[in-house]
Amino acid sequence: MAIVQKDGFSSKFGVIAAAAGSAVGLGNIWRFPYITGENGGGAFLILYVFFVIVIGVPVMMSEFVIGRRSESNALGSFRKLAPGTPWWLIGLMGIIAAFVILSFYSTVSGWTLEYVFQSINQGFTGKSMNQLNIDFVTFTSGSFRPLLWQMIFMLLTAAVVMCGVQKGIEKATKILMPMLLVLIIAVCIRSVTLTGASEGLRFLFEPHFEKLTFKAVLMALGQAAFSLSIGMGALITYGSYIKKDTPLLSTSIQVASADTILAILSGIMIFPALFALGVGNTGGPGLVFVTLPAIFQSMPGGSIFAIVFFLLISVAALTSTISVLEVVVAYLKQEFNMSRLKATILGTVSISILGVFCTLSFGPLKHVTIFGKTVFDLMNYLSANVFLTFGALFIVIFTGWKLGKSSFVDELNQSGKINPIVTNVIVFIIKFIAPLAIAAIAIGAFFIEGLT
Ligand code: PHE
Repeated sequence: MAIVQKDGFSSKFGVIAAAAGSAVGLGNIWRFPYITGENGGGAFLILYVFFVIVIGVPVMMSEFVIGRRSESNALGSFRKLAPGTPWWLIGLMGIIAAFVILSFYSTVSGWTLEYVFQSINQGFTGKSMNQLNIDFVTFTSGSFRPLLWQMIFMLLTAAVVMCGVQKGIEKATKILMPMLLVLIIAVCIRSVTLTGASEGLRFLFEPHFEKLTFKAVLMALGQAAFSLSIGMGALITYGSYIKKDTPLLSTSIQVASADTILAILSGIMIFPALFALGVGNTGGPGLVFVTLPAIFQSMPGGSIFAIVFFLLISVAALTSTISVLEVVVAYLKQEFNMSRLKATILGTVSISILGVFCTLSFGPLKHVTIFGKTVFDLMNYLSANVFLTFGALFIVIFTGWKLGKSSFVDELNQSGKINPIVTNVIVFIIKFIAPLAIAAIAIGAFFIEGLT
């Protein structure tokens, strides 16, 4: 039996801080720049923004509506809103997705802690980009240190989740998210004023649509889902903590805008520096860990910047990992009547076990591949492009075709203030446009261009 939550967000600003905290994370600062780099730059960016507007925001609204209406976790919500039907399987997929995401996400989150540590110890000073790249590879291909940081990160996540929703997450995110924004803007300014930076900006903003394959289109959609935290029930879970008088339409638009602005700023931070410092394509997961230390070295007060910056990336990651773990914890707690403490321990330990394989896949398990991908790459690929993409698809189908227009509009439009034309357009997108677009892209990518 699902239990109605007592703990919840105190205000609209609290909801936005927490949901934006979930959305803004490594997806923006670490994943977006290198995925954009690998998929052609400008054209990818345009598609990405298009998907955020046309698919991301409607899915986000659907999740908030499902969560708040049912006041339940990612799986229980479907059981409650569609009893006796197999729709709860969407929730199950979301819970599996939480495992997949957190396993590789905690690897990279651990790296951010190592980089906080290194920046405190002046570890980047006087090093060339090449040397920084070698250092990154040496660190990540080890076992002890990356695993240690990953476990520390999982413990931090567990510690916050254990404290509940309002006291920890909401308070911390309200202060830290604005700080992150200010710092990113400062680093952007440094990056674009480096000589030769304009080529990087051109790469990011000049579209070359001829480079786009179905795969790249799927990557843009997957990245939009990943970055907005949609498709797996994180926002269903958070939705269940939102008060009835909080407007869901404006909240979704504000969260999605904040997330997109931060992703674009991350691109502005990385690409000009990459081109200006003449490294060519040091693509892949190491991109920010090599480029940013190089930028910090070339700025006055750079070593202080480096410390604060990596600390903030860690915090941005933490406000995201909390929301992923919360999906599992809310599920265990409500469906199995576990205490929050027990649910947190069980969730953390089981995810960490999978996480070890992801971390080691840069070192001792480098040669273990499935479908030609290492464990880390597979989890990273599967999460955005399979789990979240299909999760988003089924969520809009559920909202559009099962939940029904009147329940959806009623929940979205608590105070009856939204113009009916707006709600009609949203419902049309949710019923027809979003599902057809997602299905067409997925079919194109998987069946025309091959599975992975
Ligand atoms: N949106 C987060 C990020 O961009 C990652 C995330 C995905 C969090 C899915 C929750 C659910 O870093």
